[in-house]
Amino acid sequence: MDRRSDTLIRTNAYIAGSWTGAPVTPVLDKATGQEIAKVPNLGVEETCEAIKAAHAALPAWRQRTAKERSQILRTWFDLISAHSEDLAHLLSREQGKPLAEARGEIAYGAGFVEFFAEQAKRIYGETIPSPKSDSRIIVIKQPIGVVAAITPWNFPNAMITRKVTPALAAGCTVVVKPAEDTPLSALALAVLGEQAGIPAGVFNIITTEDPEPVGKELCANPLVKMITFTGSTEVGKILLRQAAGTVKKTTMELGGNAPLIVFDDADLERAVAGAMASKFRNAGQTCVSANRIYVQTGVYDAFASRLAEEMAKLKVGRGLEEGVNVGPLINEAAVTKVETHVADAVTKGAEVVCGGKRHAKGGTFFQPTLLKSVTSDMQVVREETFGPVAALLQFQDEDDVIAMANDTPFGLASYFYARDLARVWRVSEALQFGIVGVNEGIISSELAPFGGVKESGLGREGSHHGIEEFVEMKYIYLGGL
Ligand code: SIN
Repeated sequence: MDRRSDTLIRTNAYIAGSWTGAPVTPVLDKATGQEIAKVPNLGVEETCEAIKAAHAALPAWRQRTAKERSQILRTWFDLISAHSEDLAHLLSREQGKPLAEARGEIAYGAGFVEFFAEQAKRIYGETIPSPKSDSRIIVIKQPIGVVAAITPWNFPNAMITRKVTPALAAGCTVVVKPAEDTPLSALALAVLGEQAGIPAGVFNIITTEDPEPVGKELCANPLVKMITFTGSTEVGKILLRQAAGTVKKTTMELGGNAPLIVFDDADLERAVAGAMASKFRNAGQTCVSANRIYVQTGVYDAFASRLAEEMAKLKVGRGLEEGVNVGPLINEAAVTKVETHVADAVTKGAEVVCGGKRHAKGGTFFQPTLLKSVTSDMQVVREETFGPVAALLQFQDEDDVIAMANDTPFGLASYFYARDLARVWRVSEALQFGIVGVNEGIISSELAPFGGVKESGLGREGSHHGIEEFVEMKYIYLGGL
């Protein structure tokens, strides 16, 4: 029982402005395994209803002035801010992350609402010098239409606001399918959205235990004009195939395999702090977590021992407990994956400096783990581990480390620590990633364009670029003037 977060718990889905569906699927506290609440298990029929509701609400919503939409979003931001503690407690329980991080996510998520409330008023068109003296070329931007947003469990609040608020600001209507593990934060956002005056049908939420048919309908239904997804590359590819049938616009924020490189000339303390922040945020369950830490030979031992010292200070436990900074993993499958990666590394010669096992707390808790003598053939390097495992590799040469860092089908985030200005520029340009953190381990902000290259995704979220994904450009040729 946690009265703090109970005020925003809803046990129905939200379609066409109505709270609907019988609560049947338990949502668990990820630290204790206890049920927090039940939510509906909806299917294709209800998904179609939500899509129709979004389609019906579209003409009136897109007709509103940008300023009106902006004001509603701003009110939503104010309500989220006023309820931030309730939202953070609920998020910590259903997701598992420490309360301080949950508070951070609510502020991060609210940042998108605030930013896109402002940006609604800045969807500017263009005039282009025309090829004839009696004509003019004008470019206008119009909302793309009904958007389906499929969102992940690792950021149950911020990944919704990052997708939904630019869509709403642009004049689109939205159907959200939150992750099965974390639907309550989505429903809590809808409670506040309703209070803010988002009209019925403009923002809909479908909860389900069975994401496949729901996702398929969202991708195939011709009334939906765009799919925006955050999740694995594997699922992203399925959605892309399904969306191809109706040639939908997509934005895909997919898997990463982030390198973090520490050069000999780095500020070592800053590099350790950056590695800690990037690696252990959400127990390593972010697509921008440092997955492979490359350290130049001259500072390898010093870096490893400072990192081990900092890791020894980490407190594992339930997110709502005082001082905890590493929560449980999302489910048993996540723990099995981390165990498999560690076992593979050890078999191939890695040294376990600390951790390496399930935590004595049981459940899905895993010990913060430091591996040394890691090599490129290990699973911890080839795949996203998505857990609290810091894998250290040694390198000698700048060209070699860039080649190793780029040797992956993924290209979301990368990080490096160096002081030499020429090197900073050179390496920033050479890394084949959508995001490069230079002397910085936390790169997420509503003000910056977040997104990947290669198999890490399509499109960008956040910043003034983020809203452009939700509009279509129309060129009007005005002749006979
Ligand atoms: C993600 O892991 O999907 C998003 C991480 C972030 O926005 O920082």
